[in-house]
Amino acid sequence: MKQVFLETFGCQMNVADSDRMESLLFQSGYLRTDQREEADLIVVNTCSVREKAEQKVYSLFGNLLPLKKNNPDLVLGLAGCLAQQEGDRLARRIPALDFILGPDTIENISAAVSQAARQKAPLVWTRFDSHKEYSIPVLDLDDQPADLSAFVNIIKGCDKFCSFCIVPYTRGREKSREAEEIYAEVRSLVRRGAKEIFLLGQNVNAYGKRGLDKPVAFHELLYGVAEIPGVERLRFTTSFPGDFTEGMIRAYKDLDILMNHMHLPVQSGNDRVLELMRRGHTAAEYRDMIARLRDAVPDIAVSSDIIVGFPTETEAEFEDTLQLMEDVEFDNNYMFSYSPRPGAPAAEWEDTVPEADKKSRLQKTIDLQNRLTLKKVQSFVGREVEVLIAERMEKNDADFKGRSPQYWTTHITGGTGELNVGDTALVKVAETKGRVLIGRATRPASVTLDPIVYD
Ligand code: SAH
Ligand code: F3S
Repeated sequence: MKQVFLETFGCQMNVADSDRMESLLFQSGYLRTDQREEADLIVVNTCSVREKAEQKVYSLFGNLLPLKKNNPDLVLGLAGCLAQQEGDRLARRIPALDFILGPDTIENISAAVSQAARQKAPLVWTRFDSHKEYSIPVLDLDDQPADLSAFVNIIKGCDKFCSFCIVPYTRGREKSREAEEIYAEVRSLVRRGAKEIFLLGQNVNAYGKRGLDKPVAFHELLYGVAEIPGVERLRFTTSFPGDFTEGMIRAYKDLDILMNHMHLPVQSGNDRVLELMRRGHTAAEYRDMIARLRDAVPDIAVSSDIIVGFPTETEAEFEDTLQLMEDVEFDNNYMFSYSPRPGAPAAEWEDTVPEADKKSRLQKTIDLQNRLTLKKVQSFVGREVEVLIAERMEKNDADFKGRSPQYWTTHITGGTGELNVGDTALVKVAETKGRVLIGRATRPASVTLDPIVYD
């Protein structure tokens, strides 16, 4: 078999898209390798959401182009959001590229690879078909093992048009995937060894609002996936506050396998900034959502994304963000300094906040969040948590590593000998190191059952 090296930047959607390309390429005779020097095909799945992500892609090219010089048969392709946005320009700038695919055209990867071999100029294949329904046919992958924690796309694109964000322009309109197709993929993943299912989308909780043959609301989809035998854990990301529903709260209460973690980005704690960002909700409304959620599910971990230094944000308005973080007591946060994304509306506005102020605001959010996170993590000492064991520790292979329901990395020391990767263990947390929980397994929380047989 030939070998493909796939490098992925950006969000979990990109990771899922790379997995999809891997499966499609497997069917046309390629195996994935992590040695780029050995590859017959290199695909870089790119991100353009922030300036930094874009810079990383360009610096990678510095390393890849010499490989192509040494081996003219090497096929070099670009996929993802930067490819979508800059397609023709990149083709002109880097003629050594063989093909360019957008996030909406990755299904054509095998055709692109074979056509590119016959072409002199890079093949640019980035046109959206906005009328097409969203379908990712489930592939027959025989017994190819699936990841223990597997991603499943349920909705693509975004219709929110937050003023700072490029995603609606690179990934197009929101479109949901038929529930039956999602269930079929989950069944296939479970049959091939997956135990934890991550439902993915830019806005998972906008699922089913439009365009499905049989309308299914997001929370109904959660109940549907939870019924599939063999799914031991269910997670989803990312949710949008404007599409938050009581149904989701109910699902957390009702479904034991729905893990107690929710990523609900707020971006800012100030109403004027939120309005300029076109987020469609106020800080008070956001606080209320989290209060209702925590009332119903006290143990739930809540994380968010924050942008500092949005155009015209004053110091006092920034402090509203710190206050919100403190009040909500986020378990975790991903914090970013605003960077204009050409094509997004805010990029037309003056980028008023000086870099030095952005930097110091960012540092303040990081320091505050570190404090909040450590407090949360330390509150687990003495408690028992269920951990899905993902891997053995390198240093001592009797020790394991996995995630708690709240998504904290957990180290299991002094393994009992009965435990294996893929088991769920009950771990008594004895101490913490940074953000990591550490403890011994008191007993396996679940025994591995016989494989499930589907007719
Ligand atoms: N709903 C999406 C959001 C995608 S972008 C999701 O799947 O997570 C991820 C995060 O990047 C956003 O929530 C925002 O905090 C940050 N971001 C997006 N555009 C940005 C920009 N122009 N500058 C700085 N941060 C940005
Ligand atoms: Fe971007 Fe806002 Fe959608 S952050 S992905 S436009 S919800």
